[in-house]
Amino acid sequence: MEITHIRAGALADPAVDVLLDEIVDFDRRINRALGYGEDFDPLPGSVRSKLVRTDEFTSHEIWLGRVDGRLVAKAGAYLSLQDNTDVADVYAGVLPERRRSGLGTELLTVMERHLGDAGRTRLNAWCEVPAADFDADPRRPRIAAAAGTGSLPAERAEVAFALRRGYGLQQLERCSVANIQDSTPGAQGSSPGSVGSSPGNWATRLGETERSAAGVGDRVGADEGYVIRTWAGPAPHEHVQSIALLRQRMSTDVPGAADLQDEEIWNPARVRALEADREQAGGRTQTALALHDGEGVGFTEVVSYAQRPHVAFQGATLVVREHRGHGLGARLKSSNHAALLEGSEVERVYTWNAAENSWMLAINERAGFEVVGWVGLWKKILA
Ligand SMILES: CC(C)(COP(=O)(O)OP(=O)(O)OC[C@H]1O[C@@H](n2cnc3c(N)ncnc32)[C@H](O)[C@@H]1OP(=O)(O)O)[C@@H](O)C(=O)NCCC(=O)NCCS
Repeated sequence: MEITHIRAGALADPAVDVLLDEIVDFDRRINRALGYGEDFDPLPGSVRSKLVRTDEFTSHEIWLGRVDGRLVAKAGAYLSLQDNTDVADVYAGVLPERRRSGLGTELLTVMERHLGDAGRTRLNAWCEVPAADFDADPRRPRIAAAAGTGSLPAERAEVAFALRRGYGLQQLERCSVANIQDSTPGAQGSSPGSVGSSPGNWATRLGETERSAAGVGDRVGADEGYVIRTWAGPAPHEHVQSIALLRQRMSTDVPGAADLQDEEIWNPARVRALEADREQAGGRTQTALALHDGEGVGFTEVVSYAQRPHVAFQGATLVVREHRGHGLGARLKSSNHAALLEGSEVERVYTWNAAENSWMLAINERAGFEVVGWVGLWKKILA
């Protein structure tokens, strides 16, 4: 196999255009082989952004494996440049018809050697398992997650591969979806594209927030003096510092995060760089921020893309420890989804939560989310 290593930003535009179609087709095949539908197909804007965009905070690198000129295997690494400089988030895939002939091992070995030489010795990888296979035949051998909650079927290719390559299963995340438009009582469905919902308008199910007299975009909690502010696109200037602080807290304050990486360092410039990154990929970010005495104490965000505007992905959600237990998580989410209903074409929102994060899972269950699949988070320390 011929292996090419490409750093984000290294290729000239014409070369990017040629590669883009090839990579989008490759990623789509990997996705469909997993059993996921078009909601999870690659978005050309995001793929392009990973090829061309780098800033002082983050970068991407990819390794492409070709046989007879055809792209048959691909590996990638996401790198943080200011903090966690010994960490890399990695993923590898091989075309279904070329599996089990050593290509995955060959590509991963090259990527790991390169990352290790660059001092990236803490590797975090992930794999996906659709709900139908996760739940099938409970007597199958399973691998338990080190975090203590949940396990994955041991004989699945990704699980066997990761174990064989020396990765340990650290944690599970549950991926679930809600149809935020559907208010049909009792509608059912469990696969992407046929999503059920419990009765009532989705955004009102979590326990209401009231529209404030302060104007569109400001919602006030019924008590305790919390104000929830919502917006689409870049953070308003007066809130960018709050968002930076909350993102920094988020990097270690969610279950399991501290086992995978050190605290991230965030400032307004890094928030702006992330916003620019998403915008370049055709992303639209809808944010809700909780304020208490003018200070940001929690936030939630959902990202959708112009190329597939009916589908959105839940990003970060955090309520800082000192303000937990006041129903703020639910209020943030319901405010944000109400704003999505008003101002976007989004129909479905996908979210990922740690299996042991019972607080967040309970909020999502009350909101009518249905399980789509599970993500295994793997960890390897290079010698
Ligand atoms: C995981 C994946 C990359 C493996 O690629 P591959 O080229 O088939 O892997 P290899 O041929 O190098 O396999 C190496 C070892 O992994 C294990 N393995 C891989 N696939 C397996 C399977 N279907 N069943 C059991 N063991 C398997 C075996 O131990 C194998 O060694 P062996 O063939 O000598 O027994 C491929 O299945 C894939 O693309 N899956 C979808 C993408 C994905 O989930 N990636 C996340 C990886 S953590």
